[in-house]
Amino acid sequence: MAKLLYINSSVRNTGSLSRQLSAEFVAKWQAGNPEGSVVERDLMRNPLPHLTEQLIGAYYTAPEARNADQAHTIKLSDTLVDELIDADVLVIGAPMYNFSVTSGLKAWIDHVARVGRTFKYGANGPEGLLNNTKVYVFIASGGVYSTGPAAGFDHLSTYLRSVLGFLGLTDVSFIRAEGVGQGEAAVASALASSRVAIAEALPA
Ligand SMILES: Cc1cc2nc3c(=O)[nH]c(=O)nc-3n(C[C@H](O)[C@H](O)[C@H](O)COP(=O)(O)O)c2cc1C
Repeated sequence: MAKLLYINSSVRNTGSLSRQLSAEFVAKWQAGNPEGSVVERDLMRNPLPHLTEQLIGAYYTAPEARNADQAHTIKLSDTLVDELIDADVLVIGAPMYNFSVTSGLKAWIDHVARVGRTFKYGANGPEGLLNNTKVYVFIASGGVYSTGPAAGFDHLSTYLRSVLGFLGLTDVSFIRAEGVGQGEAAVASALASSRVAIAEALPA
């Protein structure tokens, strides 16, 4: 039974394009996978805490050596990692805030980038431990970054490609609703091109 993990990170409840498009994708995926299951993590409704000294101490302590506080503190991170390891498909709604991911999405990454669980240090340096997970990232941005003069300011897709690849997730597709700060026609055009990309990703 296929499993999809659905992460949303826009702080907008209303009018969010990354939420809208990723939700359309997930609904279409569910229609094509009626036996499949979806686990949703909404980082706006249920924000994750920032890292703490105690938590990173727990990350770098073997499970059997953790003290009671560390064992308690690491539970949420373990649950998030379990969800990610279990997923066959990962869908991320990723608005661009200040040229990169939202702080909510960064917090999720900080909880799932775990030595010994999602990456390890091997003979040739760091090695991602995740694989076989197809990733779809729904980017929404006011400006245009896929091409043109602002391309060098895109620290969102470049960052996600790097950090997901670091964990072993190399099969990543970016679906961009970009230039949406340029008025209604630009929004309509961005929605239309994203829907074409969804149809290509999930043919009926
Ligand atoms: C705090 C904040 C920072 C933003 N920073 C950028 C930015 O650096 N570049 C950009 O093109 N758009 C920026 N925008 C515009 C958003 O990327 C755009 O509104 C997008 O649609 C937000 O995603 P959402 O519709 O899913 O909420 C920013 C918006 C907010 C609220």
